[in-house]
Amino acid sequence: MFYQPEDGRGWVVLAAYHEETLLRVLDEMMDDPESAGFSDIGIRNILYTEVLNTRPRRVLEIGTHIGTGAVVMGTALQRNGYGKLISLEPQLKYKAIAEGYIARAGLSEMVEILPFFSYQDECQQRLRAEGPFDLIFIDGAHEYEAALFDIRLAYALLRENGLIILHDSGRDSPQMDQSGQGGVRRAVHDFAAETPGAVAIFREHPLWLNPCGAALICKQLLEPAIETPAGA
Ligand SMILES: C[S@@+](CC[C@H](N)C(=O)[O-])C[C@H]1O[C@@H](n2cnc3c(N)ncnc32)[C@H](O)[C@@H]1O
Repeated sequence: MFYQPEDGRGWVVLAAYHEETLLRVLDEMMDDPESAGFSDIGIRNILYTEVLNTRPRRVLEIGTHIGTGAVVMGTALQRNGYGKLISLEPQLKYKAIAEGYIARAGLSEMVEILPFFSYQDECQQRLRAEGPFDLIFIDGAHEYEAALFDIRLAYALLRENGLIILHDSGRDSPQMDQSGQGGVRRAVHDFAAETPGAVAIFREHPLWLNPCGAALICKQLLEPAIETPAGA
């Protein structure tokens, strides 16, 4: 049955960011004829606050599109006065549009877009040279095999206790997978099952207020390890 939030709660998720330039550029992006596929406010809030909370040296995004996530993360990096976002966008048309918005938001020093697919050797060499990454946003291809490939790649590039954030892992995820294999949702589940130390969390309704959903994967390393005291 379709979830309906109670009266007073509603569907509207408020943005955690208030910078005038960012809000203006995001408004312009929403009017862009190529805007379909943009990030939602819930995921932007996670990206923005995670960058502020952890002051990352390197952030990676797989799938820039026209750059809504990139301008949000770039603005948080600019507030930090530290760190850089590397974003992958193989479609040169989208890369050019995103670079225009990033320049208008004054973020060109914080954000670099590389014209690569994540599976290209040249791309992976460059990422290994830039890494390790503290935070990785995976929002590229939504087919199961491609998503699982990107998660494995990202996990190898991720610092201990770093976070991977994924879009489109919600209940609509299988419909976004043209190969019919369950999409990002199943890829997150299977990766966590095959990888000791990987902790996956799905943000789902009724708390997550859209059916696209979001997921987090942490490369959890507790030091010192938690030991159960004798006799407990
Ligand atoms: C849903 S859009 C990304 C939206 C963007 N993250 C945002 O916040 O607005 C997906 C993008 O991923 C790109 N893409 C698809 N497969 C990719 C891959 N293997 N590596 C890098 N980018 C990829 C597509 O060209 C497309 O522009």
